[in-house]
Amino acid sequence: MSDGQRLSRRGFMGNVAGTVGVLAISPDLATWAAAHRPARPRHLAMADDYDSYAKLAFNENPYGPPASVMKAMNDAFKYANRYGYPDPGIVGQICALHGVTPDMVVLASGSGELLEAIGNTFLAPDKVVVGCDPSYGDVYQHATRIKSEAIKVPLRADHTQDIAGMIRAANAHAKDAGFLYLCNPNNPTGRTIPAREVQQLLDGIPAGLPVLIDEAYHHFVDDPAYATSIPQAIAGRSVIVTRTFSKIAALAGVRLGYAIAPKALAEQVRLRMTGTINVLAKYAGSAALKDLDSQAKVRAVTLELRRKTTAELERRGFAVIPSETNFFMVHIKRPVRPVIDAFKAKGVLVGRPFAPMTDFLRVSVGAPEEMQRFLNAWGDVVV
Ligand SMILES: Cc1ncc(COP(=O)(O)O)c(C=O)c1O
Repeated sequence: MSDGQRLSRRGFMGNVAGTVGVLAISPDLATWAAAHRPARPRHLAMADDYDSYAKLAFNENPYGPPASVMKAMNDAFKYANRYGYPDPGIVGQICALHGVTPDMVVLASGSGELLEAIGNTFLAPDKVVVGCDPSYGDVYQHATRIKSEAIKVPLRADHTQDIAGMIRAANAHAKDAGFLYLCNPNNPTGRTIPAREVQQLLDGIPAGLPVLIDEAYHHFVDDPAYATSIPQAIAGRSVIVTRTFSKIAALAGVRLGYAIAPKALAEQVRLRMTGTINVLAKYAGSAALKDLDSQAKVRAVTLELRRKTTAELERRGFAVIPSETNFFMVHIKRPVRPVIDAFKAKGVLVGRPFAPMTDFLRVSVGAPEEMQRFLNAWGDVVV
């Protein structure tokens, strides 16, 4: 067993109930967080190494699905052998939530499936996708895989998205732009695009150019200047908004997401879907939409831990990009790759490098004890 494994196991075993000191959060949230951590593995043998890490790399929800969603999945197992099982009605719930009609909804096995389907719909070897850089790279990587090109507009100095720059790029590529990608809030920076800038962008780009607005982190936003772009789709603008159950709803491994778009756009994207959403995902998503109280708790504890952790990093002399999500970026003032590896050796998984921001570290907001392990390791790894 390596030192890292030994350390991480000790870290995992210790302090599971929560944190004291700089990360002490409101007692009711601390109690909730401790009660909602998935059960510890019964034995920490080699196969359980994964469980031993503090997992701050993929912006996941560390608390897991709430009891209501677990029950719905358990109950749905009885349909595991069926094709024609009763539908839980999740599309109807999504319609009621957003005030849209079913022909505007595309359900998918995670929003990642939609991002690819949208790429497959609107790109081709002679087409480009326009977006900011860095952003959620899967969109650009998929474009490259299908022999398209990504036109990436650098972020502004304050790490917000350069809307004027994207409008210019979209107009310069009026003939070959397949779609424009806006990640709001943006991954990896956590920064939002104000609603009025989204409007400026929609009004400034070539008419009819589809805009994919990825709202994977919508549920964590506090910024009053931000608004979902779903009303733009309802108003018939050429907008496809994607949402995921992977973050606030803790279903990353179960795979469920959806898109909202005007009927004609939704139809085009739906043609690319493979229909692989499984019965557990549908029932889980349906139950998740009925249990918004649990999501409110996840949001509250996550935002409080983000505030406390980032305040502590700033106190230690490191600037943090203001985030509206369940992750943040901290300026570590040195190349990030060795720092990521050093955190791993301490049993803490943190975000990958996001070129060109290679002296910034992206950290997901995990459970209280995970953030404590992160801060403890920081003292050895960064300072
Ligand atoms: C901005 C963004 N969009 C989409 C996804 C894909 O999420 P999923 O496929 O799990 O719905 C992620 C995952 O981290 C993300 O950060």
